[in-house]
Parts: sequence; structure tokens; C-alpha cells
Amino acid sequence: MTFVVTENCIKCKYTDCVEVCPVDCFYEGPNFLVIHPDECIDCALCEPECPAEAIYSEDELPDDQKSFLELNAELAEVWPNITEKKDPPEDAEEWDGKSGKLEYLER
Ligand code: SF4
Ligand code: F3S
Repeated sequence: MTFVVTENCIKCKYTDCVEVCPVDCFYEGPNFLVIHPDECIDCALCEPECPAEAIYSEDELPDDQKSFLELNAELAEVWPNITEKKDPPEDAEEWDGKSGKLEYLER
């Protein structure tokens, strides 16, 4: 079991999540974070920390977010680890809750 970062993180990237992860299993891309599924210990601490409510347990993923399970696994293998919170993008609030953000994912 793992937790998964989903679409609403894209272009919001608040990074509050990384501060609480006891095993430092978040990985950072240009405008999105992912969780390494083999490293996540399923502690659930990160889920309530995300202001964008973008983190779900694998077994509670909404149907339209299920592809993010694979995407987290894939990108966690290539992106660098992140362990400290940083400032979000200046326009993060404007993007919070917008649909169709997957097309803006930068790799
Ligand atoms: Fe880290 Fe726990 Fe969140 Fe998994 S559930 S990413 S171990 S904080
Ligand atoms: Fe993304 Fe939420 Fe973390 S927006 S960076 S999953 S706090």
C-alpha cells in the first residue's frame, strides 16, 4: 500500500507534505511532487497536510485519478528527493482546484 499525489498538486506544489514524511519518500519535479510507492510506509501523516487535498491512499483514489498511481511510481525513479518545504509557485492559489491540469505536468 502507498499514498499517491494526484492531479491537484500540479502547479500548486505547496510542499507541506514533505515536512511530515518520516521516511522522506517525496520526489520533486518542476511543478509536481510524487511519492515513491516502494518507500512509503503508509503512515497517512501527509494526507491532511496538503492544502490542495491532492494526496490519497492508494485504495481511496478517485476513479479519474487512478492513473496517478503509475505516474508516481514512474517519476519517483527519475526525479530528485525533496525533504524540506519550499515556497510554492506565486500563482499556486489560482490553480488550486482547476481541472485538466495533467496537460501542464512538466517532466
Ligand atoms: Fe510519507 Fe507517510 Fe505520506 Fe507515505 S503516507 S508519503 S510514508 S508521510
Ligand atoms: Fe503537492 Fe500538496 Fe505536497 S500540493 S507538494 S501534495 S502539499
